[in-house]
Amino acid sequence: MRKTSDKPPTAGTESAERIAKVIARAGLCSRREAEGWIAAGRVSVNGKVLDSPAFTVTATDTVVVDGNPLPSREPTRLWLHHKKRGFVTTNRDPQGRATVFDALPKDMPRVISVGRLDINTEGLLLLTNDGGLARVLELPATGWLRRYRVRAHGKPDAAALAALAGGVEIDGIRYGPVEAAVDRQQGANAWLTVALREGKNREVKRILEHLGLAVTRLIRVSFGPFQLGDLQPGGVEEVRPKVLRDQLGTKLAAAANADLAPPPPRQPRGAPKEQPKKENRRPAGGKPHARRRRPL
Ligand code: URA
Repeated sequence: MRKTSDKPPTAGTESAERIAKVIARAGLCSRREAEGWIAAGRVSVNGKVLDSPAFTVTATDTVVVDGNPLPSREPTRLWLHHKKRGFVTTNRDPQGRATVFDALPKDMPRVISVGRLDINTEGLLLLTNDGGLARVLELPATGWLRRYRVRAHGKPDAAALAALAGGVEIDGIRYGPVEAAVDRQQGANAWLTVALREGKNREVKRILEHLGLAVTRLIRVSFGPFQLGDLQPGGVEEVRPKVLRDQLGTKLAAAANADLAPPPPRQPRGAPKEQPKKENRRPAGGKPHARRRRPL
């Protein structure tokens, strides 16, 4: 165990990692939250309470959070959750409101969310037991498209919507390219589809407000390759390990340091194809992964 420097690990210390990263990867919280926990004296290493996140540990160190040893690393898992209105995306809400984590089935392992949805936003929220994966999927550089169906009060201006494709700056904040199209106008309200690749605070509401539209309903229908489909409000469905591996690809999996199921061994040419076992043809619950678009 050693105090860290800002240099990357050198030969022989490859397995030494920042303490906050190790805690996040165990799925307890995000890296930033882990740093807060360290500052609050909640984390010890080999019996010594840390006061700074500038610390690296290896597999031989004993990390304890709130008196409990860090759970050993589990394989990386990802779930789709249909968030309902009225739930906050945080572990503990100072105002005591219900959190998305309160609404999950009791037999779920500890998970963290991939980014956040506002309290009144509905739809697809990805959950994972791997803080490293959550961080990578949230990164603007990863660039996964987030697609929303939006009900807004007002009459969208087609030219103003089209101009969003070039990005927009609002109150000093630069938003990247936004795809926005009106699906239908119903009296004073419009239904739109809006898609962007960032994940900034209240981005859809701010961008549409900027165009004079007041968002009255906001539903995320997809995040990267994952679709809300017909997942029921409040429902949770795990992404099958093979689908997760295929959708992440080797680059993202490596960036997240994800612990994924290995690909099946390659069959030698001409070998007879092995039939999948009956119970493996469909995910638990019997639903195919590809999801139908959800009518609204
Ligand atoms: N944009 C918003 O304004 N709110 C969300 O919850 C997500 C995207």
